[in-house]
Amino acid sequence: MGWMRRTGVGLLAVGLCACAPVGESERDGAADAGVERTALGGRLFDMWYDEIDRVFVPDDPETPVVDGRGGPNGDGTLNGADGRPFANTGHDYRLKNLFGWDMRGVAGVYGRGYQDKPWILATGPLSPRHAGETRDRWIARLAEGDMALGLPAYGDVLSAPEIAALVDFMLAVRDGDLPHPDALYALSTEAPKGFVLAPGGDAERGRRFYAAQCADCHGADATRIIFDNGEQSLGQHARYYGYAVAMIVLAGEPGSDMGPQLPAGLDAAGQTATLLDLLAALCDRGRYPRGAGTDPEVPDNDPRCREYLR
Ligand code: HEC
Repeated sequence: MGWMRRTGVGLLAVGLCACAPVGESERDGAADAGVERTALGGRLFDMWYDEIDRVFVPDDPETPVVDGRGGPNGDGTLNGADGRPFANTGHDYRLKNLFGWDMRGVAGVYGRGYQDKPWILATGPLSPRHAGETRDRWIARLAEGDMALGLPAYGDVLSAPEIAALVDFMLAVRDGDLPHPDALYALSTEAPKGFVLAPGGDAERGRRFYAAQCADCHGADATRIIFDNGEQSLGQHARYYGYAVAMIVLAGEPGSDMGPQLPAGLDAAGQTATLLDLLAALCDRGRYPRGAGTDPEVPDNDPRCREYLR
């Protein structure tokens, strides 16, 4: 992922050179470190155990025995705030599962009206109930667990800086310092998977961004890597789960060579626009086809891609 980060730094350096040659490398480094830390927080939110050196394999909830690896109990469970094992009911201890990708718990995309995941928590960082809650409060909650909320204790498996990066990522989304879910898609009880992309994406710009930023790894038509055990090409994945693809492009894919993909130096509005352009482009079934993906293609008039669907 090194070269992508350097690409971002390069763009920023050009901008800084024009106005402030002195101290350029210092600021460059600081900006890069900020982007990197935010992205790490996002990947930890997605799947923390693919981002740490220690082994953690969540217990398989389908089997009667507790048979995972690592963690405070050595068996792929975490503990609750009461110090007792906190069962994996299918969330695999991933924050994106417990809170949902949009961090709204049961009111959000994984919640009752939409994907209805059985393990989703009642609330998350973007829920009105937690509005304005401080960084310290969230850090304590993640580190120690919270029985009322239904959150396990991550302090046994993540370091203090890792927990801080994770919380800062969530609060940056909450506070609009990173693309906000409301700016990327609307929840919909009518649409499969419960979402419809936001309007305003420019597919032509998105195609250019894709060609420059993604094609080297994913192929010109996005079929080189097929995800989820051969089920979906990248185009298909975006048409099915655009809300998740946006976050993965922002933060990178946990445990892979894919780091954060947006150019450094964009503010949240610029990031949102770039993500929407990309998603609009990936809604073109002809240009970014299914390839060897085994899942069916989304049908004509599928609402998720709205008028971007080609
Ligand atoms: C350096 C190579 C590289 C670049 C550049 C790259 N990716 Fe990836 N990407 C990967 C790899 C490797 C994976 C992991 C594949 C796997 O899990 O099988 C991945 C995974 C993903 C996933 C996760 C799919 C899932 O399993 O949920 C998405 C979405 C994605 N890439 C989109 C993009 C987009 C969009 C771009 C351009 C903005 C991009 N990638 C740029 C290499 C790259």
